[in-house]
Amino acid sequence: MIILKHADDIGIQLKKIKAATSSIGFVPTMGALHKGHISLLQKSKEVCEITICSIFINPTQFNNADDFKKYPVTLEQDIYALEKNGCDILFLPDVNEIYPGETISKNHFNLGYLETILEGKYRPGHFQGVCQVVSRLLKIVAPTHLFIGQKDYQQCMVIKRLIELEGLNIELIICPTLREENGLAMSSRNLRLDEQQREEAAEIYKTLLGMQQKIKPGSLHHLKKEATEYLIKKNFNPDYIEIAEAGNLNPVNEWDGTAHLVALAAAFIGDVRLIDNILLKH
Ligand code: PAF
Repeated sequence: MIILKHADDIGIQLKKIKAATSSIGFVPTMGALHKGHISLLQKSKEVCEITICSIFINPTQFNNADDFKKYPVTLEQDIYALEKNGCDILFLPDVNEIYPGETISKNHFNLGYLETILEGKYRPGHFQGVCQVVSRLLKIVAPTHLFIGQKDYQQCMVIKRLIELEGLNIELIICPTLREENGLAMSSRNLRLDEQQREEAAEIYKTLLGMQQKIKPGSLHHLKKEATEYLIKKNFNPDYIEIAEAGNLNPVNEWDGTAHLVALAAAFIGDVRLIDNILLKH
């Protein structure tokens, strides 16, 4: 595995690669890698000839300074895991490489209502930050395929929109959420949970599974309320439990029994905020 820290060096490598290769897969990450990230790398290796991963903790997507400060860093282990799993190139930029001249991109991305609902509502500015970094990374890496995880469901939609907005010819491949044995969605933030919290955190997925089992056509108000109350009883502090159309994330209060739906949850356990989602009917 080649490790590159400068955008220019990626450009030089790409010139060589592109002469011999037609598909370049890209897996952007913020490090603290777990099996979910590795599954993205594996999928990319299945589909593409060359796979580039990046590790960059993007300051502009953190709406909470404390969350940024406490974001887990496990660089040595990450490099080992990427190497072992066959990553070809690791792009490891520092902040000046992504935001040169200390200027954080002033670009505003027109994300429409995606920016103001769910994660957008509770993490103002978050998706603009995600778009800033992903847009910059896609310019540097110029992949043919981009691999991201379904765990960040709304982020998947935002990145799909970004690709459309920028007119990029990149195939977006959304990969399934990987889970711990108890059902907890794998996430870098899980490293901030103690053992007991890790057990308790599985309640989020159990709640979503319960919704999947109980959903019936008609009003969904009670289902959402019951799920929220359940999580509060289990000592979570939920930001939201929502049911939305799977294709566009429009919240659904009355279900006609046919629309494809997704249930999404965001909740704090202690001071760690976790998100998860599950497709209900598809
Ligand atoms: O999902 C993530 O880890 C990040 O939001 C991403 C896509 C790497 C952008 O910083």
